[in-house]
Amino acid sequence: MDYRLFFPATQRNKIHIGDVLSKIPLKQGLVLEIGSGSGEHGVAFQKRFPEIIWQTSDPELEHRRSIISWIYHEKLNLKMPEPLEIDVTKSPWQIPFKLLDKLEVIISINMIHIAPWECTESLFKESGKLLKYGKFLILYGPFKIEDKHISESNELFDNSLKIQNNDWGVRNLEEVNEEATINGFKQKQLIKMPTNNFTLIYKKITY
Ligand SMILES: C[S@@+](CC[C@H](N)C(=O)[O-])C[C@H]1O[C@@H](n2cnc3c(N)ncnc32)[C@H](O)[C@@H]1O
Repeated sequence: MDYRLFFPATQRNKIHIGDVLSKIPLKQGLVLEIGSGSGEHGVAFQKRFPEIIWQTSDPELEHRRSIISWIYHEKLNLKMPEPLEIDVTKSPWQIPFKLLDKLEVIISINMIHIAPWECTESLFKESGKLLKYGKFLILYGPFKIEDKHISESNELFDNSLKIQNNDWGVRNLEEVNEEATINGFKQKQLIKMPTNNFTLIYKKITY
């Protein structure tokens, strides 16, 4: 069965996010993606960075089915593991021990604003436990700076999120950075991306 989902924004932003990832030394090891959604990013990045292993995850069965379908459709099934069922708030994340040893990067794209704030806290907390010194946590999405939206379209988007769920919303960069500090990360880069998004690269600076 073909369960592939198609997320238009994902198809549009994968090139730009991939360009940022290409500047990080991703020579080998494992990238763990949290909230992989359709799996379109996962297969695109696995093809673009064949030296690494791209491990997808998502709490939604429909999404994990789509990810598996994408993996087979792109003939990556001998390279890419099947998605893990990870809900960031359910600690500890269920990750096979053999994968943890190879973990270089945790990445979450367009997740923290479409989930309660608790998910941001859990993402940093669990990533802080799993990533060793010098490894990276990467976030992509819209952010407010000093509690202000950077565009009118982001403000409209934020309002539309809150109508769907009052606990969702575009996050404030400074509050996200506080979570980073609490959990042993330092913001290394803040990269302005197309369509009023950012990529945030955090480095683990504690052991
Ligand atoms: C807007 S989609 C983004 C999907 C994908 N990263 C992309 O950019 O196409 C948000 C994703 O976050 C996932 N998500 C929501 N709550 C989550 C949680 N508590 N833990 C992990 N992932 C979660 C959803 O299932 C969904 O796949």
